[in-house]
Order: sequence, then C-alpha cells, then structure tokens
Amino acid sequence: MRGRLEITKRMLRENQAWAQERVARDPDFFLRNAGSQSPDVLWIGCADSRVPAEYTINAQPGELFVHRNIANLVTESDLNVMSVLQYAVVELKVKHIVVCGHHGCGGVRASMAAERKDLPYVNRKLEPLRALYRLHAHEINLLEDDIKRVNRLVELNVFEQVRNLTRNDVVQQAWQATQTLLLHGWIYDICNGKLSELVTVGAKRG
Ligand code: CO
Repeated sequence: MRGRLEITKRMLRENQAWAQERVARDPDFFLRNAGSQSPDVLWIGCADSRVPAEYTINAQPGELFVHRNIANLVTESDLNVMSVLQYAVVELKVKHIVVCGHHGCGGVRASMAAERKDLPYVNRKLEPLRALYRLHAHEINLLEDDIKRVNRLVELNVFEQVRNLTRNDVVQQAWQATQTLLLHGWIYDICNGKLSELVTVGAKRG
C-alpha cells in the first residue's frame, strides 16, 4: 500500500523534471502553447494504460486532441465522445480522426463473456460491442484460440467505429461543407508497440 501511495508523489516529482527539461530544450515551448491549440488530429482510443496515445507516435503537447474510453467506442448516446468529436471538427477543424483499437483489449474481451453484475456501467457501455460480437460470432468462433478471437473482434470494432463516424452528423456536415476530414482505423499491437492502418475513409479537399 505504501508503494502505491508513493506513486502520486513520484508523478509530481517527475512532472517537475519533465517541465524543466522541456523548457531547457525550448525556452518558449509552454508560453507558445498557452495561447491556443490547433491540433490536426483527433485520437479516439482505448482507456487502456498500455496504449498511451501521444507516447506511441512521439506527439508533443498541442499535437493531439484526445478522447479515450473503454474499447474506443463511438456511440451517439455517449455525450462525452460526441462533444469531443463536435468540438474537434467544428471548432478546431482537425483534418484527421484516428480510431485506434489495440490487440488484447480487455473491453473487447469482456463483451465476449458473460456480464459482470458488479460492473453495471461497464455493461451498459459495452452493449454495442456485444451486439457487434453477436453479429459476427459465427466467423469469430471459427478461430481456434482465444487471443485470435479477441483480436478479430478488436479489428471488426475499429471498422465499426469508423463506420459510425462516417454516418455521424458532425462528420457528414463537415464533408458537405467540403472541409478536409479523413477518418483512419488503426490497430496498436501491445506485444511490439507498433501501429498498423486498417482503413482510411474520406478525401483531401482544397
Ligand atoms: Co482496450
């Protein structure tokens, strides 16, 4: 327990070191960023601690607008993801939206198993994923091992969330206004740290 309590103290110390080091390399860095933000990319990823968005692509503060939730779902009834999406597209005018799933996703795995009575919020959140699994259960269950079955649903989920974005009114309106907006479906391999692209939708304009 003591070790776990020490973690947050260490984090605050590390933050001091990080901020000092950043300024040593680029004295105006934080001042430049403080005025406004203009990221080109919205990242919609999983909340999993092993998939830290900025780390995986060496992004600096100011480069990524980030939303993460369990199993990187884009669900219209989720005010959190919808408001982030709207602000990113309408106000920040991001040019890319990345939906990033990852192999070994615990949320995806949970959606293939019986519901846990002690996790009612999680159950509700994962309902669309459960439905997706039911839709593809025949194909998925042909795969011989559990890891492959989970990873297949991870991929199908990324396709599904990109599809949800293509049908979303915020995205549709941006496209109708000929705003450049590309949608990307990526997978992060937690075994080797590498990202791969599954799908890209949309066109460059202007
Ligand atoms: Co996950």
